[in-house]
Amino acid sequence: MSILRSVALARSARILIALACLLSLPATAQQPRWPSIAEDGLRDPKGPATKILQQPAEALSKLAPDTAGNQVRWVEALKQGQIKPRGSLKTLVKTGEYNKDVFLNLKGGMPAVRFPHSVHNEWLDCSNCHDHLFKKKRGATAISMFLILQGEQCGVCHGAVAFPLTECSRCHSMKREDALAELARQEAEAQAEATTAAPPPPSPPSATPRTSPPAKR
Ligand code: HEC
Ligand code: HEC
Ligand code: HEC
Repeated sequence: MSILRSVALARSARILIALACLLSLPATAQQPRWPSIAEDGLRDPKGPATKILQQPAEALSKLAPDTAGNQVRWVEALKQGQIKPRGSLKTLVKTGEYNKDVFLNLKGGMPAVRFPHSVHNEWLDCSNCHDHLFKKKRGATAISMFLILQGEQCGVCHGAVAFPLTECSRCHSMKREDALAELARQEAEAQAEATTAAPPPPSPPSATPRTSPPAKR
């Protein structure tokens, strides 16, 4: 067996093990929804902060509920105006606007991945992802589940601060043929825009004033 092939096999075995570990995580249903600050294992339970800080349950139970991660459906909470995140305490930070959906994983066995720029750009700046995590061109980055599970690429945030990687279908959310059709529609639209936005050809310089109206294009 070639070295390359055994490396590839070892990699897929590692992906499977990582996925198996993820999927065998204990169900969160039996645990308290949000452990108190003294019990969360993150802070010193005897420290003074435990009496001063707001308890997570008090703040989070009012927001759109989720069944995974930190139990808040953040996208929904934002949409419903339950939260209004700010880029800075003092100055207004304007993030870029770009709402295109990017369709990924159009060849694999899993359903296609729809990456919504809109949802991300409400919280993040382009520079949070471009270009150190992803290139600004669909398909230009070698994105892989293996790297994501290791906390790279989408995994820099998902599984850390955004919804966890156990929620496969939130990313793998589209049938391949639907994603391909949507991609074809996007491309046709972009092409139509490119033809209408093209500047008219420069008119030749003329010494005499024009007598006839400019020709219609
Ligand atoms: C945060 C988003 C996200 C989550 C959650 C996620 N994936 Fe993926 N997955 C991706 C992306 C992006 C790719 C790579 C797409 C590409 O090839 O361009 C990928 C690729 C894959 C691939 C390799 C390509 C294929 O279809 O065979 C497999 C297998 C896979 N994911 C399985 C899973 C499983 C199982 C889960 C849940 C345990 C999961 N993924 C959760 C984003 C995600
Ligand atoms: C959370 C991460 C993230 C943020 C934030 C983000 N992008 Fe992206 N962007 C991506 C990913 C992932 C791709 C696909 C890369 C690939 O397939 O190689 C992409 C692709 C693109 C593309 C190419 C689209 C195409 O169809 O080829 C453009 C243009 C782009 N981004 C612009 C922006 C701009 C402008 C912003 C800020 C307003 C932004 N992005 C913010 C992750 C992000
Ligand atoms: C820089 C951080 C960051 C990166 C990188 C990132 N995301 Fe996200 N993503 C977020 C945040 C924050 C949210 C909103 C909070 C949440 O839903 O947990 C979000 C939400 C989403 C949602 C919307 C879920 C919903 O409820 O509608 C999808 C789908 C998604 N991400 C897919 C991806 C995929 C696929 C990638 C990689 C190609 C990726 N994200 C990379 C931070 C990130």
